[in-house]
Amino acid sequence: MKIAVFSAKRYDREFLDAANAGKYALRFLEPHLNEETASLAAGFEAVCVFVNDELSNTVLETIAAFGVKLVALRCAGFNNVDLHAAARLGITVVRVPAYSPHAVAEHSVALILALNRRIHRAYNRVREGNFALDGLLGFDLHGRTVGVIGTGRIGTVFAHIMTGFGCEILCHDPTPDPERLPTTAKIVSLDEIYAKSDIISLHCPLTPENHHLISNTTLARMKDGVMLINTSRGALLDTSDVIEALKCGKVGALGLDVYEEEADLFFEDLSSTIIPDDIFARLLTFPNVLITGHQAFFTREALENIAATTLANIAEWEASGTCRNSVRG
Ligand code: NAI
Repeated sequence: MKIAVFSAKRYDREFLDAANAGKYALRFLEPHLNEETASLAAGFEAVCVFVNDELSNTVLETIAAFGVKLVALRCAGFNNVDLHAAARLGITVVRVPAYSPHAVAEHSVALILALNRRIHRAYNRVREGNFALDGLLGFDLHGRTVGVIGTGRIGTVFAHIMTGFGCEILCHDPTPDPERLPTTAKIVSLDEIYAKSDIISLHCPLTPENHHLISNTTLARMKDGVMLINTSRGALLDTSDVIEALKCGKVGALGLDVYEEEADLFFEDLSSTIIPDDIFARLLTFPNVLITGHQAFFTREALENIAATTLANIAEWEASGTCRNSVRG
């Protein structure tokens, strides 16, 4: 079977080639899959895509006309796929539901620790011979209240790690599983999370219902100086509202691994170009904002699991026409 691998980076090729061992004809393509590049899928039975590929109705209709029958996501989230259109066109969509919840949970904790103890600022200061401590004051995590929104695979690991720091954990999830959470964690309403948390970390998928979950309305219900962490999907935050909250001190620190308009920025070296996104540029001016470019998943273990599961999904679909990791609208 011929498979077009979109948004392919050097590391995708390395890990997919190793897991494939020559079984499938993988064609690695650098561009994102979108309306402009959909014609590159001609001649392939399957496309393999990542978080910023756009599987809209138009794109799916185009690739279906070429004979593409399978979309293999190299990620867990599927908010970038029009699942109803895929079903209507007879295209199966498969994903990698879990590749390393530890990778993402640990990255969320890295953002918290760096922001709290100003590690990103201290690193630069010390390299310039500036050993002053003004502006680097943090707080003990021990005894602080941490709100976890979404307690699936990643949120659960995150809750356990933060329990280890001696934090009080408040969780919210429409379908919580108390058995998997730390015994000391409390399952509460979103309002209670907003009212009581010193740190709020988002670990839920992006859905039409929770688009801009963090906005003026919800920010107003939070503690002054709250730390917000988002490693899930950018559009869970209304970034303009969060910028206003940063300006007045309502939000005391912001750690992001995702950004609503990241498709035009992340995963590329744009260091020699002008970034036209004024909202993103404004975020970069705050000393208490730390942004990473969708790297939370980026560990060796996760890339091995992504490659192995993606190829297993393709093999299962090829053999049976179905796949345990398929997603439907
Ligand atoms: P999961 O499916 O195991 O858990 C998600 C949980 O969120 C579920 O328990 C679900 O009931 C809950 N949920 C759904 N809607 C909610 C809402 N409105 N409020 C609160 N909870 C809600 O997913 P997993 O593996 O834990 O991943 C979570 C998210 O992390 C993914 O959807 C993806 O967006 C993001 N992610 C980010 C990565 C990165 O590199 N930055 C890598 C992998 C995932």
